[in-house]
Amino acid sequence: MIEILLIGIGSGNPDHLTLEAIKALRTADIILIPLKGADKSDLADVRRQMVAEFATKPETRVVEFQMPRRNVEHPDYLAGVEEWHANIAAAWRQEIANHAGTSGRVALLVWGDPSLYDSTLRITARLSEQLPFTVRVVPGITSLQALTAAHRTPLNDIGGNVLITTGRQLRDNGWPEGIDTLAVMLDGETSFQSLDGKGVFIWWGAFLGRPEEIILSGPLEDTGPRIVAARSQARARHGWIMDIYILRRETPQRGQECPSEPGD
Ligand SMILES: C[S@@+](CC[C@H](N)C(=O)[O-])C[C@H]1O[C@@H](n2cnc3c(N)ncnc32)[C@H](O)[C@@H]1O
Repeated sequence: MIEILLIGIGSGNPDHLTLEAIKALRTADIILIPLKGADKSDLADVRRQMVAEFATKPETRVVEFQMPRRNVEHPDYLAGVEEWHANIAAAWRQEIANHAGTSGRVALLVWGDPSLYDSTLRITARLSEQLPFTVRVVPGITSLQALTAAHRTPLNDIGGNVLITTGRQLRDNGWPEGIDTLAVMLDGETSFQSLDGKGVFIWWGAFLGRPEEIILSGPLEDTGPRIVAARSQARARHGWIMDIYILRRETPQRGQECPSEPGD
């Protein structure tokens, strides 16, 4: 039987690896590292660095493979994603067959945590069509946690709610009704510019956890333009960028905050 280990590795800093993740890495027979092209080679480098430091079992084999690319020209977005996921599952199946056969522990290092805007679990489910396997998930530090930690801010207002969304949703649908705090990911277009910034505060971060980390925060009306400029400079300097932000509307305080420990 194949055991698939989906290990959350945090958002770019090897120090984000949990002890559970390190222990899991040490049990792997095979570690699959996806290569996503020269512009994203930093992402493979982070994984290589973690493997070199922590995958200490001598028999562990590291297998790098070309990650299939999504056809961005596909006329039907969802059908294009389906096709892409099928291709990735086929690539994994091939590598597992070549390097493990029908038994062994195969680890995949998932950016942040596998539960958050990541399709690794969905792609893993496709493997079952031809390969009997079990799956185990090791949670990782998400980019959202890296952002709140960098800004030393809680994610939610007291007793308030939070919606995690994408830049596209924000641009297309605006600020959702009844929501106090938005966490926005996957936004290549600084979509906060589409909002009326009055009374909104922003906490923004790029390359969180990495040496090139940048954070900015303040009222959206004057901080928004500074973020747009900083983002475009950083993108030009590094050739790529990953950023995330939280937006909060000023609302009257309400409710009770949870105690920090269950039972307090
Ligand atoms: C495909 S999602 C993966 C999210 C990941 N599973 C997680 O737990 O954070 C990629 C998005 O995560 C955010 N992201 C991931 N790593 C980041 C980092 N180091 N700094 C800032 N944003 C990051 C960005 O919004 C990026 O567009």
